[in-house]
Amino acid sequence: MDSEDMRENQVIGKSHLRVDGWEKVLGRGIYTKDLGIYDPLYCSLKQSEHAHAEIIEIDTTEARAIKGVVGIFTADDITGINNVGVINLDQPVMADDRVRHYGDVVAIAVAETKELADQAANMIKVNYKPLPGVFDPVEALKKDSPLVHPDGKYGNKGNLMSLMEYQRGDFQKAFEEADVIIENVYRPGYQEHAFIETEGCIALSHGEKITIYGSLQCPFYVRDAVANALGLKRSNVRVIQVGVGGAFGGKEDVPSEVATRAALASYLTGRPVINIRTREESISIHTKRHPMVIRHKIGAKKDGTLVAADVDIISDQGAYCSVGKYVQKRAVVHACGPYVIPNSRVISRFVYTNNILTGAFRGFGTPQVAMAVEEQMDELANALDMDPLTLRTKNMLRKNDLTPKGQLLDNCGDGLENCILSASKKSEWKLKRHDFNRFNEKMNKKDQSEIKPGENIRKGIGMSTIMYGVALGDSAPDMATATCQIAEDGSVIITTGGVEMGQGAKTVLSQIAAQEVGVPLHYVNILDADTSIVQNSGPSVASRVTPVIGEATRRAAYKAVRQVRKLAMEKFGYDYDYGEEEFEDGENEEMDVKKHIYPAVIDGEPHIVDRASGKKLRFKDLVQECYFNTLKLIGLGYSRPPTLLEDGSYRDYYTYSFACHIAEVEVDMDTGVVDVKKITAANDVGRALNPMSVEGQIEGGAVQGMGYAIMEGLVQDNGKILNPSFTDYLIPTALDAPELIPLIIEERDDFGPYGAKGIGEPSLIPTPGAVLNAVGHAIGKPIRMTPASPENVWKVINDRI
Ligand code: MOS
Repeated sequence: MDSEDMRENQVIGKSHLRVDGWEKVLGRGIYTKDLGIYDPLYCSLKQSEHAHAEIIEIDTTEARAIKGVVGIFTADDITGINNVGVINLDQPVMADDRVRHYGDVVAIAVAETKELADQAANMIKVNYKPLPGVFDPVEALKKDSPLVHPDGKYGNKGNLMSLMEYQRGDFQKAFEEADVIIENVYRPGYQEHAFIETEGCIALSHGEKITIYGSLQCPFYVRDAVANALGLKRSNVRVIQVGVGGAFGGKEDVPSEVATRAALASYLTGRPVINIRTREESISIHTKRHPMVIRHKIGAKKDGTLVAADVDIISDQGAYCSVGKYVQKRAVVHACGPYVIPNSRVISRFVYTNNILTGAFRGFGTPQVAMAVEEQMDELANALDMDPLTLRTKNMLRKNDLTPKGQLLDNCGDGLENCILSASKKSEWKLKRHDFNRFNEKMNKKDQSEIKPGENIRKGIGMSTIMYGVALGDSAPDMATATCQIAEDGSVIITTGGVEMGQGAKTVLSQIAAQEVGVPLHYVNILDADTSIVQNSGPSVASRVTPVIGEATRRAAYKAVRQVRKLAMEKFGYDYDYGEEEFEDGENEEMDVKKHIYPAVIDGEPHIVDRASGKKLRFKDLVQECYFNTLKLIGLGYSRPPTLLEDGSYRDYYTYSFACHIAEVEVDMDTGVVDVKKITAANDVGRALNPMSVEGQIEGGAVQGMGYAIMEGLVQDNGKILNPSFTDYLIPTALDAPELIPLIIEERDDFGPYGAKGIGEPSLIPTPGAVLNAVGHAIGKPIRMTPASPENVWKVINDRI
């Protein structure tokens, strides 16, 4: 094909710098705090002083008396419905008769400066009647345990918020026929999102209408929450996303709380209100990764063939549901790993407690269950005297297999196999496994008293393989819309319901639009998400932005450029019957037209070229002619992944991403310190639209996963978080990052744009299991919890756990 031809290769599949990269590295990006707002008020929170208590009285007299304080608002001031819950309507904007965890907000103070607002919030006096609390999900399930939502209004039975389970095949009989059974309990812990920018929103009311700017992942969640809380129509609430300094799931439903409080204050005072959390508030209020107690039983034949699994998951939901039920669904679907297991049962109980809320976090419950099943696979391999790699390749899912829960993988390729082969080869798995075994044996034989401090090292290499359901599956409406307009100079404006939160969405969506329209990348401007200009496109979560919102963008762009192509075809003398109808995805028409013409960038300017004659027309001239002929230069793209099958049933997820991560560690046996040396990470992304950006996701995900595995521990004392700062809650820095080897595997998907699947979450999900397996290999004992901190590792080494 012509070297000028950019349709196939030039934009898609090439590494491009971030379109919003320079503004970020130069500090010119605009975040919530940077917005120039005229005459604003500042909001400060009065947080609960108890984990569980009745509110007897709130005395705001002294707070109100402070000069510069404009208002103190409580639940009584809410003009709509006092709820921000997305699934269960269980979470108040502000506590009314009760507080159920320390993160509940009892009142807000609004003042001319942040300092005055803080001062006023401190002066609010709340008279509580303390209630006994419950801080352990297993305890919370017991009969006489204190109840978090005693009335059972949310479908909860006592503290049992939600039970989800499935059974496939006869797992009991299969266990009877198994040669080896491994059963253990795993305790993955909490994880804090630790985004660079804390949560924040600005509300501007104007009569019965309100506009919200904020740091958020799900503009439509915020729109709906604000409309409900204020009692306004959704059409009167406009949510505009600004720069987001990281989110990782922590800005899914959380900004709804931040925005409703700001919106209420703005609505009642008639002035703009800024509500931005401090770091301490952020860590002590927002949802965390769900800690779990996972009893995992797995059975196999002598040759390693898996025959059965039985998994029981109990998780601490905290005081409110948040998106806990979505997390639970994922934990259930992924609990048995990416393996062929014909018989299985999974039971999960998500439980209300008076602890910090748990909710969305990169992977939605999958990293936790992946850690359990992957450690089980290593223990099984040990018991069978098999290489963990061999055990995995023997049982891994291939095309047309059924997932453990029974979904037919008729639209997935052999991505998992390619990930495993690629990662094991690149990491020299077999060689290292052998070398590390010999090294460790030698160290074990040494006279321990002769080993110098710091040299009592054991080495380990561990792997973890995963599948991950892309997008929302059958949990929630899963569609996206986008618009594309072509301006008279040939530049391109895209609106989508998707959010740039640092993951590179604007870059990849720009590439898609540039590819489809046939212009250079810098011709495209992706507008920040705005709820008033596109239809509800669902949340920017679940690794769905590139595949689902990307496909909507591709379709919008194709439709927008259609008249320009049509004009070019006419000018080159082709008699092509376009028809009036717009194809849903335009692919067939595009194929036909591409036989004759193609877009190319010549001397920096986009053109359309006639294949037969080589004649070219300037894209800009064609667009202007369309404009003067009053032709349509805007397209609306709509996409919905194929979750619904023809027989009316739903797939759990329309497709799966696969991955295999391999970690290498050194463990100091005297101190328990784990040093992660290297992570080789192979991820099947369907197609890498921007390989550099995919590598960035893999590297970031692996480091965040490593942090979860060895460093990050949230400390709570009867529901109170004792380490709400980065001094006491440790996350990996650049100095902690290991050598990272990202490997991109491409098994093209039929639905996503150009074959792309999601990468945001599958980049993190396998890492904790791989690191813990490596630690287990090094010290010769499994670590069945997070974090594998020096203290915890030392305890395991010395049999203190
Ligand atoms: Mo989310 S846990 O950002 O998909």
